[in-house]
Amino acid sequence: MRPWLGAEEAAAAAAAVSSGWVAQGPRVAEFEAAFAASIGAGAQPRELHGIAVSSCTAALHLALVAAGVGGPGESAHPDGAGAGRDSAADEVVVPSLSFIATANAVRYVGAVPVFADVDEVTQNLTPQTVAPRLTERTRAVILVDQAGVPADLDAMRALCEPRGIAVVEDAACAAGAVYHGRPVGAGAQLAAFSFHPRKLLTTGEGGMIVTPDPGAAARLRRLREHGMDVSAAQRHAADQPVIEHYTEVGFNYRMTDVQAAIGLVQLGKLDRLVARRRELAQRYQHLLAGIPGLRTIADPPWGKTNYQSFWVLLPGGFGVSRDELMRRFAAAGVSARRGIMAAHLEPAYGGRNSALLPVTERLTASSVILPLFHELTESEQDVVVSVIRAAAETSNVTARRRSPGDSLAEAG
Ligand SMILES: Cc1ncc(COP(=O)(O)O)c(C=O)c1O
Repeated sequence: MRPWLGAEEAAAAAAAVSSGWVAQGPRVAEFEAAFAASIGAGAQPRELHGIAVSSCTAALHLALVAAGVGGPGESAHPDGAGAGRDSAADEVVVPSLSFIATANAVRYVGAVPVFADVDEVTQNLTPQTVAPRLTERTRAVILVDQAGVPADLDAMRALCEPRGIAVVEDAACAAGAVYHGRPVGAGAQLAAFSFHPRKLLTTGEGGMIVTPDPGAAARLRRLREHGMDVSAAQRHAADQPVIEHYTEVGFNYRMTDVQAAIGLVQLGKLDRLVARRRELAQRYQHLLAGIPGLRTIADPPWGKTNYQSFWVLLPGGFGVSRDELMRRFAAAGVSARRGIMAAHLEPAYGGRNSALLPVTERLTASSVILPLFHELTESEQDVVVSVIRAAAETSNVTARRRSPGDSLAEAG
């Protein structure tokens, strides 16, 4: 991934610096309003609130606090609701097949991440994979739109909400993706976005929570700022001295005005970013279509991906291993990456295989993420494809050698 940044972003960042207001200030407020409006716009417009934070990891942490998820014996709510809960920690169902931040956010609130398997085609959680993992202690599900493929949010809400379980959408990868004709995040109670440079829209580091709930938005704004009930910008604007109060223990998860200035320019480019990625992704799909058994990321029936990551899944029996393919990419000067990681295989989460996560383990072991960025050229793409094609050829030769008839013929 290479971010698509240019002179406009540089000028916007410089203007923020020259203004003298470099921490969270008016540009953050403007970026929040513009981003939330872009998610809420469309066929069924919805008024949404945006809360800018320092990363999507921070956004997920705060979203879980807002959803009332907590550790053993904690009161997750400032008004004491949840006090007297039993001594067991809350559980949150998450995919193991995700960047580790998804599971880590659950640990930050003292709750227990419970890993559910994913669907092989979308690489996302489904009601079928989540239902067996629900218990009396499940308080939330984090539904990830993996690699920008929209997950079926309505189906997950239908499973969870009648049971009093919150659905937090981890839309880290999904700015610009579409679910049932609306921007991803538009239908969520709490959606968390990332603006890390591996995502389409970047602010360097940064994140955003989007919610339709004004009460939750007000609390989230306090929580990202140490629980302060009056923001620095409000105090600055007041003509009388204002004494702030700290209503609960919060965090410093602020975005800076320099980042927001860049974000505003990037938001204006989002449609072009998505269109170019979809064009390049279709070209990859077309060029790779002839390789037997190779599967690629694609749109689900209910929406459109922004192709934040272009993964390919190697078929069983592909002649070279995934790691050998990655070595061949490196030798050809191609910067490919392994597929989506699986948190449960990492030492931080036990590091052991699990009989409960067979699809996750297959996907993480056998997929590769190909280069895809706005300024990728067709000839660069052709180099990537030629490495895979050559590997597939190796695979055919190996397969033929393995077949008894062929090896006799060769021996003859
Ligand atoms: C699914 C998912 N969730 C959360 C994150 C964390 O985002 P950030 O780096 O903005 O904290 C990422 C980042 O890659 C991600 O892919």
